[in-house]
Amino acid sequence: MDTPHLAEVTDDNLGDACRLTVAPHQRDYVAPVAESLAQAYVQPGVAWPRLVYAGDQLVGFVMGAFDPTCPIDYFQHGIWRLNIAAEHQGKGYGRFAVESVLAEARRRGAQAATVLWKPGEHSPEPFYLKLGFHPTGQVHEGEVVGRRQLWT
Ligand SMILES: CC(C)(COP(=O)(O)OP(=O)(O)OC[C@H]1O[C@@H](n2cnc3c(N)ncnc32)[C@H](O)[C@@H]1OP(=O)(O)O)[C@@H](O)C(=O)NCCC(=O)NCCS
Repeated sequence: MDTPHLAEVTDDNLGDACRLTVAPHQRDYVAPVAESLAQAYVQPGVAWPRLVYAGDQLVGFVMGAFDPTCPIDYFQHGIWRLNIAAEHQGKGYGRFAVESVLAEARRRGAQAATVLWKPGEHSPEPFYLKLGFHPTGQVHEGEVVGRRQLWT
């Protein structure tokens, strides 16, 4: 794995970001990057969108959500979107992206972070379970709420 790093979305990389796609069988499980960026545009105080690069190669997109006063606890600190390009999956970039959002959540003083996933045949559920998220028992619009403690 090339050492990954995060970058902000800029005029220079926006086109590449919007062309980044997951595998066809995974498309039901995550919104396209362009839709997430539109969401970030309308909720700039909540969304934390970042691109994942390996060297100068764009390999993924991740968007954190930070809304500490939200009355719904699982929307306070968490991973909102995660798309690793189909051809770059299985190289540790998804883990890097998740850990990067968790580091930002810690920096903001969060005690725990959440992610919501759709269950199903090609669901990212095993990935999130491997990374230490546990289902809380809550379900939001058919999606499982997973939570990971950030401090022991
Ligand atoms: C889920 C996704 C983000 C994983 O990204 P990735 O870069 O392939 O994952 P990594 O290479 O970082 O994998 C980290 C670990 O999880 C495991 N893992 C990843 N995907 C897995 C899966 N579908 N089933 C079981 N284990 C999986 C890896 O084997 C690895 O384990 P290891 O550390 O023991 O080797 C990626 O497949 C993806 O973008 N899927 C489509 C979109 C999606 O579902 N996004 C999440 C929306 S909530």
